[in-house]
Amino acid sequence: MTSRPDVVNEFIHVARQHFASDLLPAEARKMAEAVFARLEVPSDDGQRLSARYPACEWLDASLTALSGDARFSDIAKALKSVEPLLGWRRRTSGVNGSQGYVERHANGFVCGPGGAESRSDVQLGITLMLPNTRYPDHSHPPQEAYVLLSPGEFRQCDGEWIDPGPGGGIYNTPNLLHAMRSRTSPFLALWCLLV
Ligand SMILES: [Fe+2]
Repeated sequence: MTSRPDVVNEFIHVARQHFASDLLPAEARKMAEAVFARLEVPSDDGQRLSARYPACEWLDASLTALSGDARFSDIAKALKSVEPLLGWRRRTSGVNGSQGYVERHANGFVCGPGGAESRSDVQLGITLMLPNTRYPDHSHPPQEAYVLLSPGEFRQCDGEWIDPGPGGGIYNTPNLLHAMRSRTSPFLALWCLLV
């Protein structure tokens, strides 16, 4: 059986609790349950993304803000511990992203292709964005749940922007167009996808 670093185990354990929050839509909780059930079995193909990007330097500032809130000190600590193992990617496709958004965001993979535990059946990670940044409209076949850890907003299709509040989140059905944006502080959210 593939072994799993303690910091990855701890992150999965803590993230699971946040995705079980009743602040999330029921569909998000249900889908996340299926993701975390798969994650009970470690699986790692050994692929690793090694790049870091300018936006990654904002993680510490986000975590400092987060760790001051008792509701999120556990995930802040788990994220800080697993950060050296994250695989980072940036989205460069999609429409309506704010100017310079590619440089102003980074997606960190804990589980998923090239992540700390590289696998293709699920994805679990974070999106970090600098203040005043809009992520492009995008879609993907896997369904997805987000947990917001900072101020920020989400949009689905051409609907209104939604602020679920810290600890809340959204659920995206397969191939649903969606986006998110930060306000005057960094944006930090957890996501998981069921492939
Ligand atoms: Fe997405």
